Amino acid sequence: MNASWWQTGTIYQIYPRSFLDTSGNGVGDLRGVINRLEYLEWLGVRAVWLSPIFTSPMADFGYDVADYCDVDPIFGDLGDIDALIAAAHARNIRVLLDWVPNHTSDQHPWFVESRSSLDAARRDWYIWRDQPNNWTAAFSDVPAWTFDEHTNQYYLHNFLPQQPDLNWSNPEVVGAMHNVLRFWLDRGIDGFRADVVHMIGKDPALPDDPPERQGTSGVGWREHPSTHGLLRGIRSVVDSYDDRVLLGEINLDDTARIATYHGQADELHLAFNFLPLKLDWRPEGWRQLIAEVHSVYNAVDAWPTWVLENHDQQRLVTRLGSLERARAAAVLLMSLRGTVVLYAGQEFGLADAKVPAERTVDPGGRDGCRAPIPWEPSPPFGWPTPDAWLPWPPDPQQHNPTTQRDDSTSTLWLYRALLQQRAESSALRSGSTTARVVNDSVLIVDREADGDHCRALINFTGGTVEVPFDDTWTIIIDSCAGETGGDYSGQLEADQAILLRR
Ligand code: GLC
Repeated sequence: MNASWWQTGTIYQIYPRSFLDTSGNGVGDLRGVINRLEYLEWLGVRAVWLSPIFTSPMADFGYDVADYCDVDPIFGDLGDIDALIAAAHARNIRVLLDWVPNHTSDQHPWFVESRSSLDAARRDWYIWRDQPNNWTAAFSDVPAWTFDEHTNQYYLHNFLPQQPDLNWSNPEVVGAMHNVLRFWLDRGIDGFRADVVHMIGKDPALPDDPPERQGTSGVGWREHPSTHGLLRGIRSVVDSYDDRVLLGEINLDDTARIATYHGQADELHLAFNFLPLKLDWRPEGWRQLIAEVHSVYNAVDAWPTWVLENHDQQRLVTRLGSLERARAAAVLLMSLRGTVVLYAGQEFGLADAKVPAERTVDPGGRDGCRAPIPWEPSPPFGWPTPDAWLPWPPDPQQHNPTTQRDDSTSTLWLYRALLQQRAESSALRSGSTTARVVNDSVLIVDREADGDHCRALINFTGGTVEVPFDDTWTIIIDSCAGETGGDYSGQLEADQAILLRR
């Protein structure tokens, strides 16, 4: 396989507000990211994706953009992003930005102009109607339309009222957004994670949602075929530069639908599939998903993406209820065929913070997984101040990179070993995949390429299970112990996952 860097390497998501502060205001910044590039290189990630760093009033913490071509002062300035790109490239780490195409901030000059009058030059850059349909916005039960008294019309917002949807059926919007991409590609950005990009094309009739769907936001299912043509246009801009990548958030819980957004290799390079974030911790569900992704993606000849954490969902340790299971899930994740995206903190077993009501800031209730990263075991945890914008996650004394880097049995070393194995094994990088379940309790994932054969065994139960094989296999990674070299005895302990090679 003549694979690209975004197929062989692992992508690491950084939520910049929570990564590391260097200015002393309790909010992370771009200099903080630069400070930790040595760590990311040691860990072995191939690219970082930064959640939005653009100028923003922060109603949705950066997913409400007021200027796509500048950096919000809370994170730094254009000089800092240039410095970050250069420093990351010097360590062979690529940098992706989070581009938010579906909506802007209501403070964006485009929207300020659009709402200024019925005949404003940019009126049609957003979606205005005399009468709203029955759609509901995300994060709340409020309608997806807000009435603007000044011009007596409603504008559409699939998210907060401060996030008006752009009208991508207007070619001027398309041109302006393509220029945003070029602005960053010219600066050396290696690609984009495109936010809720399945929603940019709208049914021009804006029909009412059917009664059974009324009252839920359309994020998980709203799509329109016009999005595919828009994606082809976006892809051709990205492809006019060397070796860049387009990773889309396709928030649909259906692998076959998601896969359509790769087009004929002319839409997304990579598309998130969030089904693994919603699966119960049971081997049969995982087996089915692996088989489905395998067959759907082989049929369209596209490359899958795997993710278990992000800034919108509970962290793995919290969701699965134990660090042992989260470590077993790490072995499973890193054994799968496709590009893996990690979320900062996942690699050392961070759990969600408990955020008391008076400190809640996110309208979508996602503060727990956005807690600041503790870099050191004691306050202020490597930050200039212990007073960060959100409370610290639980047990920072153990769950921080400094402590875990000194302990080769830590979760951090487990991830690092898994990343190294992926880098070294053609079976793990590109091999065929077969998955089966034994005893209703253990998932076996076999990966094979060019005579290289790896096998992951994941015990989904809290008890010891016998899984004997005939051949001689060597354990290369053990979720309970870290990196190891022993022969496989035919037995798995509670919550244990191992990676074997022969
Ligand atoms: C995506 C982002 C989420 C954001 C939303 C609106 O789902 O991941 O954080 O709130 O889009 O931009």
